[in-house]
Amino acid sequence: MQHMIVYAHPNPKSFSATICDHLGQLSSDLGNTVVTRDLYKMNFNPVLSAEDFQEIRSGKTPADVAQEQKIIAKSDLISLVFPLWWTGYPAILKGWIDRVLLNGFAYKHSPKDGIQPLLTGKKVQLITTMGAAVDEYENSGLMDAMAMTMGDNVWSFCGCDDAGMIVLGEVPGMSDKDRLAVLTEIEDSLVMALSAGDRLASTNTKPTTPAEKKAVRKPAKRKTALKKKSASTAKKKAASKK
Ligand SMILES: Cc1cc2nc3c(=O)[nH]c(=O)nc-3n(C[C@H](O)[C@H](O)[C@H](O)COP(=O)(O)O)c2cc1C
Repeated sequence: MQHMIVYAHPNPKSFSATICDHLGQLSSDLGNTVVTRDLYKMNFNPVLSAEDFQEIRSGKTPADVAQEQKIIAKSDLISLVFPLWWTGYPAILKGWIDRVLLNGFAYKHSPKDGIQPLLTGKKVQLITTMGAAVDEYENSGLMDAMAMTMGDNVWSFCGCDDAGMIVLGEVPGMSDKDRLAVLTEIEDSLVMALSAGDRLASTNTKPTTPAEKKAVRKPAKRKTALKKKSASTAKKKAASKK
């Protein structure tokens, strides 16, 4: 099967870069055709412009957009690997979504029939790194909001199947040991995303492997938050009990 990885980080030494490389290598070892789109390296233009609208209105698709659409059309699994910036996609990735997931390609909107999703049968997996602790985002409701705005309202809207969202907290201070453990989690998530049943995302199955047990499973469908409690979180909790 074809596995498209859309990668958005300007720093080749970032943890996102390591994750992207690891995911691609593993997927290729599993026999998939891996197509990685490194948006910064490609210098992808993320601005949906007046010219774009004009071209689209005249029935044409901008060439760089058409190229991405061609890859999406042939892909069975799409993984997005990116750092969380201001609680959302980095601008270059958000712009890729704006320009590529067009009406008529990703969904069809008509006044008579409403919205018709056009990317059915494809699985989408989100993998993001962040500075804050996962607990903090879960407790504030931001995690659910992210799953809705970055996942459901984009990819499910277009008909894609949910292959989970992995949110990696406290990445800047993460030890090498924890980073290695995270890469194992990513391996597990890929195997699960490739298998027919997305067991981690399912609310009806119990975690069986150590990796699954370590992951936080929430009732909301699109989410696999890897938990890593910081000392400060533990301290805050202890203080609140006093
Ligand atoms: C522009 C910008 C915005 C950021 N916004 C957030 C944010 O909203 N939440 C958060 O937890 N971390 C935020 N961060 C921190 C990054 O997510 C974090 O440093 C990064 O994911 C670390 O992983 P990396 O090695 O892959 O870059 C932001 C960083 C930058 C540069």
